[in-house]
Amino acid sequence: MSKINVTVNGRPVEIEAGGTILEAARAAQVRVPTLCHIEGLEPSGSCRICSVEVEGRRTLLPACAEPAADGMQIKTNTPRVLAARRQMIQLLLANHPDDCLYCMRAGDCDLQQMAQEVGIRERAWRRGEHRTHAMDRSSPSVVRDPNKCILCGKCVRICDEIQGVAAIDHAGRGFDSYVLPAFDDELASTVCVNCGQCVAICPTGALVERSDLARVWRYLADDSYVTVVQTAPAVRAALGLVYGLSGNEAEARMATALRDMGFDYVFDTQYTADLTIMEEGSELLQRVKEGGPLPLITSCSPGWIKFAEHFYPEFLANLSTCKSPQQMLGAMVKNYWAEEMGVPAEKVRVISVMPCTAKKFEAERPEMETGAGRDVDAVITTRELIRAFDEMGLDFDRIEPGEFDEFLGKSSGAGAIFGATGGVAEAALRTVYNLLTGENPGPKDFEAVRGLDGVKEIELTLPDDTVLRGAVVHGLGNARRLMDRVAAGEAEYAFIEVMACPGGCVGGGGQPYGADAERTAKLAGELYQIDDERVLRFSHENPEILKAYEEYLGEPLGDTSHRLLHTTYRGRSKFSSEGEEDES
Ligand code: FES
Repeated sequence: MSKINVTVNGRPVEIEAGGTILEAARAAQVRVPTLCHIEGLEPSGSCRICSVEVEGRRTLLPACAEPAADGMQIKTNTPRVLAARRQMIQLLLANHPDDCLYCMRAGDCDLQQMAQEVGIRERAWRRGEHRTHAMDRSSPSVVRDPNKCILCGKCVRICDEIQGVAAIDHAGRGFDSYVLPAFDDELASTVCVNCGQCVAICPTGALVERSDLARVWRYLADDSYVTVVQTAPAVRAALGLVYGLSGNEAEARMATALRDMGFDYVFDTQYTADLTIMEEGSELLQRVKEGGPLPLITSCSPGWIKFAEHFYPEFLANLSTCKSPQQMLGAMVKNYWAEEMGVPAEKVRVISVMPCTAKKFEAERPEMETGAGRDVDAVITTRELIRAFDEMGLDFDRIEPGEFDEFLGKSSGAGAIFGATGGVAEAALRTVYNLLTGENPGPKDFEAVRGLDGVKEIELTLPDDTVLRGAVVHGLGNARRLMDRVAAGEAEYAFIEVMACPGGCVGGGGQPYGADAERTAKLAGELYQIDDERVLRFSHENPEILKAYEEYLGEPLGDTSHRLLHTTYRGRSKFSSEGEEDES
């Protein structure tokens, strides 16, 4: 590819021909602020915050959308550029609510930060008309406040172009423009799959997760409850990033921090990731032996499950019947553990810490009750956990490392890698190989499914030389393209792993703000590091899993397993959340 030379604020820089002014600025180590721009998608050029001056051009140009040209002289910080940027932010503030003190995004809001950066100390326009849209709190996962929306369009684009859901769009004109679900319905009645990618990318408090932290504090303050917490693999990786620790160090400190919060027992969702592998690996082999239905498609991502219920009801029989690790742990606590400990299940409260907003929806599904109310009573995201630590004044990187409770807290490295795209397939293949041959594979024999390629493939040869082909896909837009090929008979697999969020759970909608591909890869790397450093690498060797089968569950796919660890699905309309499969 040919190169071009430009200068940015007088600094010469060489970039590939066709690159944008924004790319040239980055190559010159010059930061240009952006609001509507999404890396990897075509620029929309709608907010103009990235405007810069180019010698010889009369108007300011949007850096994210304008191609750089050879010999271009770009200036990003002239008085004219700064005045224009200030003006655009003032216009956004003109009808923005004055509740920054209480907003969930306070201190972590792109608009607030930009206003600070350009030195805005008072509003230019105080008396203008303000929007008065009703807040939408209908969803168990996402809260919409259209009054805080700055119409950057990022939520609309990520929902449509990355996730392939298109639950929201722009409507209205001028001052009356806003982002809303079709027919102005409540979010809960739409095809929204609760993945929270819109929340993760929203630059303000217009889209936030429904916080369940107040409920968690109430449970912890009530001595009549026995409180149990579980944490997903991707949470420790994100805590490590936020506090400057390795995933392993963050895991140990998180165990102490959760006890400091007041939880009576600290369990690990990685334990039930191991249990999922035992059940799902056995299910795959059973379906191969009994002739299907294949491909077996993984079921641990609740955003993917709702997506399949809406858009691929013809594949519901292909979904693994295994509950997700979160729900398996809830069921194990309220049955096996409660019986062993002699605690009435109705007195137990199970709280999950998840990287995922869809887990809030999953915990409220009516199928997720095995005897004493909900199996999981409250779900908070990684972001909510960090807020809880802040409320407590907890100095995370100084507290002593601790450990999970052994009973439902011991996990293998295979359980840890569940949090990255490809992790479920890799962990399952380690155990499937053992179930078939009686021997363990090398722990890295199936690492071809690692990395951020949209679709990855892998093969496993059975002892009778049958080859099982598998695919791994992350991001629901990628899943839609793959499922369309499977439906058309253009791709044939024995198993498919689907994670709703880009990069898998490490890129989940409940993770700290600021995700990009580089960060997602880094967090996945932390999980692989945890796996590398575990003595225990295989789910089928986890002694607490073996004990659970011996003492309580019997065998994988047995009656007790089916009652507690497996579930059912239902077709939903392609246009709204509830109802039977749309036959039209
Ligand atoms: Fe370039 Fe919005 S970031 S126009």
